Amino acid sequence: MKHQGKFIVFEGPDRCGKSTQATILGKYLTELGYEVITTREPGGDKVAEDIRNILLDPKNTVSPMAELLLYEASRAQHTEQVIIPALRAGKIVICERYTMSSCAYQGYGRGIDMDVINQLNDIATYDTKPDLTLVFLMSDKYFTQRGEYLFSDRLEQEDEAFRHKMRRGYREIAAKMSNTVIIDADRPVADIEKTVIEEIKRHNILEGESLSR
Ligand code: TMP
Repeated sequence: MKHQGKFIVFEGPDRCGKSTQATILGKYLTELGYEVITTREPGGDKVAEDIRNILLDPKNTVSPMAELLLYEASRAQHTEQVIIPALRAGKIVICERYTMSSCAYQGYGRGIDMDVINQLNDIATYDTKPDLTLVFLMSDKYFTQRGEYLFSDRLEQEDEAFRHKMRRGYREIAAKMSNTVIIDADRPVADIEKTVIEEIKRHNILEGESLSR
């Protein structure tokens, strides 16, 4: 489905710095005069945030298929209620995580059939595709270092083997997808920020006549 606005997705393993970069980019584009919304998955509205709480609560035991379906339910709600209306209004939508997370975590990580995930992703997004996906990949050592004093949610409590599979998933999926760029997230925040802005320009994200500003 094609809309007037622009849809930018930030992807990558936990603690790769994508929230920091999404906030920086949102501020940069807003200062340029664009109408921007910054949102996230799972979540983005009341119902989807309620689903997020179920998914991330370390006290919950969730079966792999229930986990996938909950992520997809949150995605359907968020896409219909938040993303599509904003794109229709000509805004720039910056979203932390989207369909690629289900492929990396539930596909590569949990071993669920990728065809099933792709079909559910298409249904849950009403075929709404990102104009650009930036995949932030950092070394696993930073996951532990950055998380030393942080609370770990249910997914972050998965072991190194799970993280390894999920990380490989990101690399393999990103290499095959169009409008997708891998960003080396081991570098300082300011260097990554420069790369993000270069990629936004290189992909003509800001050229659309119809974008609200
Ligand atoms: P985050 O928003 O703080 O990154 O947390 C979301 C967690 O949920 C993160 O560990 C990745 C995971 N996740 C999936 O496993 N599948 C998905 O489809 C999405 C969107 C997130």
